[in-house]
Amino acid sequence: MSVVDSVISVRLDDEKDELILLDQTLLPNETKYLHLKTPEEIFEAIYYLRVRGAPAIGISAAYGLYLTTKNFCTESMDVFCAELTRIKDYLASSRPTAVNLFWALGRMDKVLKDNYSKTVSEVKALLKAEADAIRNEDEEMCKAISENGLKLLKPGMGLLTHCNAGTIATAKYGTALGPMYLGQDRGYNFKVFADETRPLLQGARLTAWELHEAGIDVTLVCDNMVSLIMRNGWIDACLVGCDRVAANGDTANKIGTSTLSIVAKNYGVPVYVCGPTSTIDMNCPTGDDIKIELRPQDEISEKWYEKRMAPEGIKAYNPAFDVTSHEFITAIVTEKGIVYPPYDVNLKKMMEAE
Ligand code: MRU
Repeated sequence: MSVVDSVISVRLDDEKDELILLDQTLLPNETKYLHLKTPEEIFEAIYYLRVRGAPAIGISAAYGLYLTTKNFCTESMDVFCAELTRIKDYLASSRPTAVNLFWALGRMDKVLKDNYSKTVSEVKALLKAEADAIRNEDEEMCKAISENGLKLLKPGMGLLTHCNAGTIATAKYGTALGPMYLGQDRGYNFKVFADETRPLLQGARLTAWELHEAGIDVTLVCDNMVSLIMRNGWIDACLVGCDRVAANGDTANKIGTSTLSIVAKNYGVPVYVCGPTSTIDMNCPTGDDIKIELRPQDEISEKWYEKRMAPEGIKAYNPAFDVTSHEFITAIVTEKGIVYPPYDVNLKKMMEAE
């Protein structure tokens, strides 16, 4: 069975009252599932990237909100609403950049507000249905993104990807890796290059693992090798995911995406940003309006090394994301179709269409 079918990164066990998450920090050496019950445990899992990737974070938060309020005992809608809002705001503070987190929690909140006249137990059932819908829709969106992305590719192409936008970052299939899996099924024989993605190595640990498990020809490179492999003519297209796409097409994704995109433009290599419409934030006019997460300095100076690799007391700057300006993005691949520039016009058109 392929990795896409055998590995599920987020799952609800409603009978045992557990959110089951694949601990992505342990991959590729260990496949361990966490059984979480409390808001604090779910917050911790999101903050420490045990679950990560914009869609998977959104799904985890939606299930987490349902799970941690379902056994809250009250008949009063006001009291239930206060508790749900408290946990929603808490989970929303776990990571700032991926809009899917706020989008999913917003959907849960809307269910509550739209059904205020119902009983608490009726609303709990509706919250479960909404969290299931968020998860199931993501799987459908990723399937459609895979089809749409594959339309841009030809058999035998060399592809470069950054970070991990694969099956474990979503409900299933992935976004940027989705077309690669579909191409594999259809005999495209892509040659994929995965860059390491410093400092948390999502490319080396997760993407290289996913693609290798799936039998796809994948080569690991360091982040600073992307110019060389493009100059060598090995890359026909770059496929990356996204954490938030602004209304003008500027895109926040894992730190290093903008470097890759600028280099790609230099070599005439197209850059395709792949993501569901849940990652498009029309309330965010440009990339300057996207909040970029800053993470602990020791992720750069100590993590992964046997001993510290930077002088004690040295300052380190560790932003988790950067913004790729829309001018470096060839197309944005969504479940609704492929969007080309001008993004300020065409994203609006797509988001407003039924
Ligand atoms: O910090 P991470 O690992 O959550 O960052 C993930 C990314 O940047 C992904 O490219 C993005 O979330 C898309 S996942 C389909």
